[in-house]
Amino acid sequence: MKLDGLDTPSVLVEVDIMTANLDRLAGYCREHRLNLRPHVKTHKIPELAQLQVRKGAVGVTVAKLGEAEVMVDGGIEDVLLAYPVYGEIKWERLVSLARRARISVALDSLEVAQGISRHAREAGVRIPILVEFDTGMRRCGLAIARESIGVLERIVELPALDYEGLLIYPGHFLVDPERRNQLLTLENRQLSTLLGLLDDARIPYPVISASSTPTAYMSHQFDNINEVRPGTYIFNDRNTIGCQAAGLEDCAVSVLSTVVSTSVPGKAAIDGGSKTFSSDKFLSGDGVGFGHVMGDPGAVVEYLSEEHGHLVLANAIRRYRVGDRVRVIPNHVCACVNMHNRIYGIRDDEVVTEWRVSARGAVQ
Ligand SMILES: Cc1ncc(COP(=O)(O)O)c(C=O)c1O
Repeated sequence: MKLDGLDTPSVLVEVDIMTANLDRLAGYCREHRLNLRPHVKTHKIPELAQLQVRKGAVGVTVAKLGEAEVMVDGGIEDVLLAYPVYGEIKWERLVSLARRARISVALDSLEVAQGISRHAREAGVRIPILVEFDTGMRRCGLAIARESIGVLERIVELPALDYEGLLIYPGHFLVDPERRNQLLTLENRQLSTLLGLLDDARIPYPVISASSTPTAYMSHQFDNINEVRPGTYIFNDRNTIGCQAAGLEDCAVSVLSTVVSTSVPGKAAIDGGSKTFSSDKFLSGDGVGFGHVMGDPGAVVEYLSEEHGHLVLANAIRRYRVGDRVRVIPNHVCACVNMHNRIYGIRDDEVVTEWRVSARGAVQ
């Protein structure tokens, strides 16, 4: 099918750019002997997770148990759930999934560890765990302090858990390259303190899992890490471009939209809004706008109503007519893809494949 035959709004993925993104990072990880465990919350598509595994990933990362279930249903055999899960219902689901695939979990509290341990023991399964430490993101993770080592020691002793090492998330590196380099120095200082505390307590750390898309190609500069979990890198987005972790030419994703109104002078309305793009902001740039209009950087996607986007054309370099089609790179691709049942792989103006976003809405 030609692109012209596709209804709008539709999420497009340039297959050759996506493939190049996957190959480049897989090559980098091979070169630096890093295990690659991509975060699949970006695409939520088991077929793309399979592709990542075929290209050398050791397994995948998810944020939610529901995503893990979809990935295992789709044939993925090794999943890291990189966020703590709490509650009887979750722990039941977790141990039942652990009978079908290798599911490891990152956690940072005794409460979560005890719950998983109890359920795993009753079910007769073992759950590999990573313990998260906070190296600066201030989101989750034990503080790097002697008291935390006491918590870790108690976690390690719990039955039916296999402690494998540490997880950190440098999500605060969505900043310009100079600032990223400054943060790297701080990060390595934090890591060194943490590993010193663990060495003193004679606690090993066979796995140190880290990384994000902005830090993906700096991973070899993070001392001692041996596993990386970028997600966005498969497609990239406006935020990745804004922090210069990728160029426009590395961005595989855009949303094909149709201009539906130009009646207001200096403006155009397109048929995709917050329920198409998500309302996520341009965090890595000047904060202005909800997407990058391909071929016309002066056109500003000024605001989004639920189903429509509103372009301000004062600095646009082209004219917009009702019926024109535009392609807009979303600020945050993970949230955007999650809005769609299907996304479309394209090569030039040909639609070459489509994927069902099987884990969309799998928020439990
Ligand atoms: C724990 C964890 N690891 C890895 C990632 C992937 O980071 P990025 O979206 O920058 O690729 C995320 C993203 O939210 C995350 O939460």
